[in-house]
Amino acid sequence: MPPIRIVLLTTSDQDDLLAFEQTNREFFAKAVGDRGDAFFAEFPRRLRSLVDENDQGRSLFFVIRDALDDVVGRVNLADIDTGEPELGYRIAEAAGGRGYATEAVRLAIRAAAAAGVRRVKAKATADNHASHQVLLANGFRRLDGGEPAHLDVDGRLLDAVHFEAQVGAPV
Ligand SMILES: CC(C)(COP(=O)(O)OP(=O)(O)OC[C@H]1O[C@@H](n2cnc3c(N)ncnc32)[C@H](O)[C@@H]1OP(=O)(O)O)[C@@H](O)C(=O)NCCC(=O)NCCS
Repeated sequence: MPPIRIVLLTTSDQDDLLAFEQTNREFFAKAVGDRGDAFFAEFPRRLRSLVDENDQGRSLFFVIRDALDDVVGRVNLADIDTGEPELGYRIAEAAGGRGYATEAVRLAIRAAAAAGVRRVKAKATADNHASHQVLLANGFRRLDGGEPAHLDVDGRLLDAVHFEAQVGAPV
């Protein structure tokens, strides 16, 4: 697998990240719903807010870059300060199937463990088998019951699967 690295977001990622989101907008919308025009119009302000959260140690928002330094994805651990952060990730359509999501999640979990996180939550729609594989390969276990059973993807209520991982132990 070609190497990737994850790097905490900074405001200098703005142009690369916006291009990544625009290029893959339709692809991501199918899996996790569209973020809406406001997301793109307000991109600089939203990015600053994520960078602030990184700087304050409240979240870990990463960009994923390949060996050519191109942005191929994002991986996030939101709200690490709550002690139960939620994991999210997305890989460019053109860079899919190369193990990037699996590796990026491994690196992000390692960073979270170093920041003192001990438990991470994640959720995916029931038909997102690639995403389930990413989580299972990183030591997540599927939770059944107790959590909302659906995810709202652009007004479509899709079956949800919830996962959690204890981190800090080797996976
Ligand atoms: C889901 C997603 C993150 C996978 O990224 P990726 O870099 O292609 O994933 P990987 O290459 O690490 O592959 C992970 C596993 O999924 C499998 N996989 C890849 N594409 C698949 C597909 N279309 N259907 C079923 N399995 C698939 C791979 O074979 C691999 O399994 P393995 O380790 O058992 O061989 C990416 O397609 C994506 O960003 N999709 C849109 C947004 C999204 O769904 N985000 C996750 C929200 S929970």
